Amino acid sequence: MDYKKGKYKVRDIKLADDGRKRIEWAESRMPVMMALREKYSKTKPLKGFKIAGCLHVTKETAVLVETLRSAGAQISWSGCNPLSTQDDIAAALAKNGTEIYAWHGQNVKEFYWSIDRTLDMKPNLTLDDGADLIFTVHNKHRKLAENIIGGTEETTTGVHRLRAMAADKKLLYPVVAVNDAETKWDFDNVYGTGQSSIDGILRATSVLLAGKNFVVAGFGHCGRGVAMRAAGMGANVIVTEVKPTAALKATLEGFTVMPMDQAAKIGDIFITATGVKDIIIKKHFDKMRDGAIICNTGHYDCEINIEDLEKLKKSKRTVRANNEEYTMKDGRRVYLLAQGRLVNLAAAEGHPSEVMDMSFANQFMSQIRLAQYDKEGIRLDPEVIDIPFEQDQEIAGIKLKTMGYKIDRLTKEQKVYMDDYSAGT
Ligand code: ADE
Repeated sequence: MDYKKGKYKVRDIKLADDGRKRIEWAESRMPVMMALREKYSKTKPLKGFKIAGCLHVTKETAVLVETLRSAGAQISWSGCNPLSTQDDIAAALAKNGTEIYAWHGQNVKEFYWSIDRTLDMKPNLTLDDGADLIFTVHNKHRKLAENIIGGTEETTTGVHRLRAMAADKKLLYPVVAVNDAETKWDFDNVYGTGQSSIDGILRATSVLLAGKNFVVAGFGHCGRGVAMRAAGMGANVIVTEVKPTAALKATLEGFTVMPMDQAAKIGDIFITATGVKDIIIKKHFDKMRDGAIICNTGHYDCEINIEDLEKLKKSKRTVRANNEEYTMKDGRRVYLLAQGRLVNLAAAEGHPSEVMDMSFANQFMSQIRLAQYDKEGIRLDPEVIDIPFEQDQEIAGIKLKTMGYKIDRLTKEQKVYMDDYSAGT
């Protein structure tokens, strides 16, 4: 481990050159972020602001971090999942002067130690994926909240919990729901999770998907993305749901819907994408076929009950990277990928750069907006704040332009027509 107090703690600083090449690769696929970097490095709207961030340390995140720094921010960073940090990227960021505390394979104590270190700089802005940093401020360092003008939250799970906190009047500062931007959830959650989860499963197993019974628990945006991509590779997709409208959508997409109790008996591959705990538990493991593969793509590692699996096992061994074979007392084997943590980030590299380009443009612009409000003396209530319509359209517009697409514009007459409530047939 390489540790310089107040600067960084990373696995191996010598990995920095490898990490830098991968960051450059991401930069070449993130034109929106690079356009924003170019624009705001001139005006430095984040000068004088200190941002503590807690988000997966990947090559795409490095592009976000370095864009925030070029806009003038001082940064301290930690990963938001013990298994998602890419050590070469952490090293490259550290070598380039980012304060960072992150390494792959942290235990829970090390995970929270790292978050605590990012708070040593007394931030005025927070940036989260999963809200662990915000929760740490609220539960352990409440005094720091007096200094914090706002935060941003990346993920469905985090936003859901923050809305619950705000409803209970427990939230101490405003937080922008980055997840709820259309240019985030409608792309990252669907196409990002879809591709990267399949990528994780394939890297950890190398199995053929065609012809497999592929069970997707949860048909939200993430589950839908995974189901679409698995079907595209020839799997028979089975969806389990609790929400009637989501289940109905799954059936109209051509997927079979059934309860997990039934799916457990016939699934070859299981993936959880619900944001809820105990989706696969003892009674399901008991029914599974020999050779079943199980993984999770939800934010926390609680969707698969690993304690149950541990109790049921006769023996366990690692058969490949991120793939553990559990042999049951009756001789059946089930394979757990990435210890039940996010399979797309722990066993692969997370979502591709092209979608993170838009998600992180939302993060970046939301941080700038919070700083701008502060400069103008505007105090926001401690609530969860939506992304403005204009921000979504601006990001989508830049993305389309960088992809070489042009679109039509409404004429003045068409605009008048749209609002004309006296018009009919
Ligand atoms: N979440 C999902 N994919 C990611 C990525 N590539 N970088 C950061 N956070 C992510």
